[in-house]
Amino acid sequence: MSNNTNLGAAKAAKNDEFYTQYADIQKEVNAYLEYNPDTFRDKTVLLPCDDPEWSNFTRFFAQNFERLGLRRLISTSYAVESKKYKAYEPTLFETESPLFDADKTRIKGKIFELTRDVNGSGRIDIDDLEWHYLEGDGDFRSAEVCVLRDQADIIVTNPPFSLFREFVAWIMEAGKRFLIIGSQGAVGYKEIFPLIKNNKIWLGNGFNAGNAYFKYMGDCSSFAEGVYNPETGLVKFRNCCWMTNLEHGRRHEPLKLMSLKDNIRFTRHKDLKEIGYVKYENYDAIDVPYTDAIPSDYDGVMGVPVTFLDKYCPEQFEIMGLGSGYLGQSLGIKGIPREHKQLMRGHSAAGDLYMMIKGEPKVPYARILIRKKH
Ligand SMILES: C[S@@+](CC[C@H](N)C(=O)[O-])C[C@H]1O[C@@H](n2cnc3c(N)ncnc32)[C@H](O)[C@@H]1O
Repeated sequence: MSNNTNLGAAKAAKNDEFYTQYADIQKEVNAYLEYNPDTFRDKTVLLPCDDPEWSNFTRFFAQNFERLGLRRLISTSYAVESKKYKAYEPTLFETESPLFDADKTRIKGKIFELTRDVNGSGRIDIDDLEWHYLEGDGDFRSAEVCVLRDQADIIVTNPPFSLFREFVAWIMEAGKRFLIIGSQGAVGYKEIFPLIKNNKIWLGNGFNAGNAYFKYMGDCSSFAEGVYNPETGLVKFRNCCWMTNLEHGRRHEPLKLMSLKDNIRFTRHKDLKEIGYVKYENYDAIDVPYTDAIPSDYDGVMGVPVTFLDKYCPEQFEIMGLGSGYLGQSLGIKGIPREHKQLMRGHSAAGDLYMMIKGEPKVPYARILIRKKH
């Protein structure tokens, strides 16, 4: 497996059946516990868009119910007939249960709940999960799942990629704490970016080295060769992240940075050494093409790569806006003169930043505009 893919491809393929690995969930949750061991204590955790019999989210939270100090765990699934991928067979857990209903199994969602020691083992764990069919198909937008959302303190899941914006809006309108997986590209959505800018949501601790591997259900022919490993059944995504409004420690670690002068002298980036920090032509800010080259002593506005968000410490920097498209326009980024646009052969849009490098106009990759905090 060598190439990369992104959740955009999954979205284009209209496929949502990617399953998160246990170790990734464990590593992420541990980051919140390290910061505050009581993050989940006495809380009701809802895992919507799950498939409790398949999902590692349900497995992880049920197995760790006592360690986390949960009050109640609720997990809901989406009916097979409502999914895009319909080749699921019911598990033995369902078919061997006295509650199994052959008419409901494919058209109804399911709810799994954990609150008490049902089997008298002396502890509350995965064997104490109780379940029944939902009235509807388990759509997170349905009235019955909204009631569960309103009862929850924290919502955790890997939501359907194709409904990401709607899912975030669904959480935010109820004012809930959450921990979810999304594409880094979602950061630039006009519905999501303002939440990031205003510190209402932020990136989580993250996947190992930024690589996320998901178990995939279904036909993998729609994916680029090299990203799907048939032996493990895992698909690799490069641009995946956790998004949350739960506190974790990494978010409060300031980046260690050099001064502007030292950066130009000692940087490992050849282009920066050669041309220094270039000012944009249509906005009063400098371009900083690498997060590790953000100058510690520059007081003005700087355009930095979107990957900066992974290192963003709100005590160190303030986010001013996004330097592209509609959000760039609303920030007051001026239009690019027509003669330059022609030279760029259409690689620009209204609201995009641009700069002149060796006499040539250039639009950088998407930039977040930041300013040092005093
Ligand atoms: C990316 S998968 C993640 C599954 C699981 N949470 C995990 O990570 O292991 C998203 C799941 O949401 C389900 N889904 C799609 N649309 C949904 C909807 N409107 N409401 C609830 N679930 C939905 C999909 O069928 C899929 O099983």
